[in-house]
Amino acid sequence: MKILGIETSCDETAAAVVEDGVKILSNVVVSQIDIFAEYGGVIPEVAARSHLEAMMPVVKKALNDASCTWDDIDAIAVTYAPGLLGSLLIGTLTARTLAILHNKPLYAVHHLKSHVYANWLELDKQRENCLNPSERAQTESSSDTLKGARPSLRSSEDPVLSSIAPVFPLLALVVSGGHTQILYMPAHNQFEIIGTTRDDAVGECFDKVAKILGLPYPGGPSIAKAALDGDADKYHLPHPKIEGLDFSFSGLKTAVLRAVQKELGLPISHPSHDLKNHLSTQQVADFAASFQKTAVEILCEKIEMALEKYPEVKSVVVAGGVSANQALREALPKAYFPAPSLSGDNGAMVGAAAYYEIKSGVEPTDPYSLNIYPRISIN
Ligand code: KG4
Ligand code: ZN
Repeated sequence: MKILGIETSCDETAAAVVEDGVKILSNVVVSQIDIFAEYGGVIPEVAARSHLEAMMPVVKKALNDASCTWDDIDAIAVTYAPGLLGSLLIGTLTARTLAILHNKPLYAVHHLKSHVYANWLELDKQRENCLNPSERAQTESSSDTLKGARPSLRSSEDPVLSSIAPVFPLLALVVSGGHTQILYMPAHNQFEIIGTTRDDAVGECFDKVAKILGLPYPGGPSIAKAALDGDADKYHLPHPKIEGLDFSFSGLKTAVLRAVQKELGLPISHPSHDLKNHLSTQQVADFAASFQKTAVEILCEKIEMALEKYPEVKSVVVAGGVSANQALREALPKAYFPAPSLSGDNGAMVGAAAYYEIKSGVEPTDPYSLNIYPRISIN
């Protein structure tokens, strides 16, 4: 089954063709990072306009790169929530129009679900790692996850792939620019939110700390790069005192701000946008490394707590833009991570998520009435 996945929830215009939820036939991502680096963040109206310009060329390139015509495409999948309203609108209007025009079933996919399913993409190329390898055998090929699947899809189940896929029940740590959540997944396409941030998302925190340090947007990759030359133990930053599995990241951002002001001998009233002018390259590197270490520790602590609370869990998957972070990958060596190029927003993960929705018996959506939801939760 070949699915065309379309993604425009934020500032990437993306389309991809994915076969059977794992094999990427094409994956085209046009990023607007260059535009927004100048402004230090995304401007929603500009993002929507850029999506409009890039969308159809990106879809055409995705089909071309996959050597597909419309006849080869079995379904279209698109991100309908959450994200920027104008951005979501361009992707969904495109997908709805194409579905009607080419008479294809249309699937509306939640953005966080797509990020999670990036972990099933190119599984054959990924390293084998799983919390409990001996239990890998009883994976998703078990019949209950196929209940409700269309008979024609069952034959595409690849026994080799399902032996190296994440094993259910699993925990998904979703870490992106807009979200920080721990999801409990008893089976494909079933999500329970067991932990969430009470304020900022961890990616947002990387972005805000980068701004204080004068590092370019997006902050995550800039901080990771600067941290390579820094001493992660130079500055002690406190962990938030949040009980249970919830997160809080706004205090960490403020802690960095106060530590920078203190280091420079400036009062707390000193404007944050001016601090970068006083910092040396080494101080920036040390703050980046100390902040990154603390953010990673906070994420790992909560995952460990969640594993204690749910001892039946067999795999951990990490998803979302921050899953590209090398320090986080090293801190969770047994977890599944998408290929770094698939950590950020892309169309392939939308195609993968839709495949597992179809396998779980989800019906296509009506292309004439599909709505968008900028702030809706995964379940
Ligand atoms: O998933 P994503 O591409 O978009 C959203 O759905 O939000 O995530 C973007 C976030 C940004 O905050 C960016 O700074 C962060 O992911 N990010 C990183 C890294 N690469 C991207 N954070 C830490 N380390 C990275 N290497
Ligand atoms: Zn995303």
